[in-house]
Amino acid sequence: MDRIRVRGGARLDGEIPISGAKNAALPLMVASLLSAEPLVLSRVPDLADVAFMAQLLAAFGVHVAHEPATTLGAGATYVLKAREITATTAEYDIVRKMRASFLVLGPLLARVGVAKVSLPGGCAIGARPVDLHLKAMQALGVHIELAEGYVQARADDGLKGGHIVFPFVSVGATENALMAATLARGTTILDNAAREPEIVDLGRCLTAMGARIEGLGSSRIVIEGVPRLHGARHPVLPDRIETGTFAMAVAIAGGTVELTGTDGTLIGALIPHLTAMGVEVMPTNRGLHLHRNGFRPVAVDVETEPFPGFPTDLQAQLMALLATAQGTSHIRETIFENRFMHVPELARMGADIRVDGEVAVVHGVERLKGAPVMATDLRASSSLVLAGLAAEGETIINRVYHLDRGFERLEDKLSAVGANIERLKE
Ligand code: EPZ
Repeated sequence: MDRIRVRGGARLDGEIPISGAKNAALPLMVASLLSAEPLVLSRVPDLADVAFMAQLLAAFGVHVAHEPATTLGAGATYVLKAREITATTAEYDIVRKMRASFLVLGPLLARVGVAKVSLPGGCAIGARPVDLHLKAMQALGVHIELAEGYVQARADDGLKGGHIVFPFVSVGATENALMAATLARGTTILDNAAREPEIVDLGRCLTAMGARIEGLGSSRIVIEGVPRLHGARHPVLPDRIETGTFAMAVAIAGGTVELTGTDGTLIGALIPHLTAMGVEVMPTNRGLHLHRNGFRPVAVDVETEPFPGFPTDLQAQLMALLATAQGTSHIRETIFENRFMHVPELARMGADIRVDGEVAVVHGVERLKGAPVMATDLRASSSLVLAGLAAEGETIINRVYHLDRGFERLEDKLSAVGANIERLKE
């Protein structure tokens, strides 16, 4: 298993190209199931999860071809053609490895009226049930049975529009319902829908395929079903979690970096905190400029929330940064019940963090110390890399396969701006 070695203390200077967003690319790839014509996606990041998704879609009869990226961050172009759906079962083995597989439920039902999708089971960051996805499908006229760990779903007369009121915000359930409703008979209203930029990106792609959608980016989305969707071309949105992670890398290591091919509005909830900590953040015509020189960042209090609030996917990275700040910070995690797995690993590097229920109290220390640590999930892994950048000595991060699921060549991007980081191949 590969490991990553970071030797702390180097400043970051230069440019980092931001890749397309994993969490936009995955649902966009799934959207190809909705049309018999080709969906051409550009700027698709080269990630383990994208490869998993391509494999899953191929099992349903989708013809998948791709041209690899020419430069780092430019992304691959995928052509996905679902001329005929030849299978409708998503097996346990793939769904348990990648929860985004569950998003095939709505599109398969919309296109062919039947789907059998494994229940994903628990996950390192929380229980992550799928009840909201199932309720949304039922509101569109789907009959659902749970048997042998699978969701067996049918809509013999096709999907019909419905009114879905989500009791709380769910990104995945909104995406599943949005995709299904594009081909349902009549009007569907999604209330308390997720407003994440990845939902807007998916909606724009569906609109380019001929879907009729209003209210994207608001908590009420209205979809007028159409009989069929056609092919389209769509570039994947820049990755806001990668953008925020590298912004915090500069904040923790110090230096001057321009993040290119991204947009500061995607991390609108992070920028005020960085500024309050004393980091300089400025939009440029290519992306975002970050600068920190010398002094220690200042403690801040943060609570994770659905978009436009502070993203849970940046919480671990922020904690690494605050572990070195001056003063005491409070981080409240409200989205997932078990997303503090990085705390004991950061503690191995000398961080002083106490967890009390959903709140982590972070007492900043002057300096972290390098140590062997273990990545526990995707975003936690990147927080250990950030901590390693600021730590004295050497940090070895084990289980980096988590990192490869969602960060495109993180170590190459960081070493190109001066970080002392390398992958140790096994
Ligand atoms: C998406 O997961 C992202 N994944 C996650 O990114 C991200 O952390 C999360 O949204 C929140 O922003 C993808 O986009 C592929 P949710 P999702 O449904 O859709 C509960 C990463 O590191 N819930 O918005 O699964 C759920 O347990 C990943 O890239 C139910 O109770 O998240 C959680 O507590 C990790 N029942 C909350 O809602 C349901 O049916 C929000 O989850 C669905 C969700």
